[in-house]
Amino acid sequence: MRVPLMAGNWKMFKTPAETTVFCERFLPLVASANHCEILLCPPFVSIAAAVAATQGSTVGVGAQNLHWQKEGAFTGEVSAPMIKAAGCRSVIIGHSERRQYFGETDTTVFKKTTAAIEAGLQPIVCVGELLEERESNRTNDVLARQVKDGLSGLRPDEFAKVVIAYEPVWAIGTGKTATPDMAADAHRFIREQVRLAFGEDAAAAVRILYGGSVKPDNVKGLMAQPEIDGALVGGASLKPEDFSLIVNF
Ligand code: PGA
Repeated sequence: MRVPLMAGNWKMFKTPAETTVFCERFLPLVASANHCEILLCPPFVSIAAAVAATQGSTVGVGAQNLHWQKEGAFTGEVSAPMIKAAGCRSVIIGHSERRQYFGETDTTVFKKTTAAIEAGLQPIVCVGELLEERESNRTNDVLARQVKDGLSGLRPDEFAKVVIAYEPVWAIGTGKTATPDMAADAHRFIREQVRLAFGEDAAAAVRILYGGSVKPDNVKGLMAQPEIDGALVGGASLKPEDFSLIVNF
């Protein structure tokens, strides 16, 4: 009953022209994929090209970040209503690269998530532990804190719009994937935190994506886990063939 979501996080890759070329090749490859939702998240400047190229298809477009204010003197920032007006359906929030390089915290994740929902965007909120946190057995503490401080302050009707992405930081861009069992354990733990904060129904309904070196050759094993409701894909989402193989797992 949880419809899988396969989302491509393009990070800082692809110009508008490259985005158009990607879509021309990608759309025919996923034209019959109605088992899941498909999302492309290009850089801000390529959103318009992605929206134009995917018009009339089931492929949605998302942004990779937002500012929580609607407008104002925040040089270089983009707001949720602007992202919505540009034709986006979703927005990635709190990606580990934003936490690591741009000072994002659970507090900003909460503000950004609230702003996204208010603007009618689906927030894809990223959580996940660092290598040293996993190695010192702190994975569950970190995940519990990220869910509590980042999400539990939402109203239940707001939380119903949220998608969570579990991305162990040590697996991002490294070629090291969590095994399906490891990922499922973390997903179960996250779902339990959701149950504690929002109750049984919310926990059963929330989609939890896995992210971190998802590739055509490991997606099947991950998606075979009932706990895993989709994938947030970085590197492998940049090639139309590879991302289509992941979508069509
Ligand atoms: P990766 O990135 O698939 O290249 O590991 C995933 C992500 O950062 O969302």
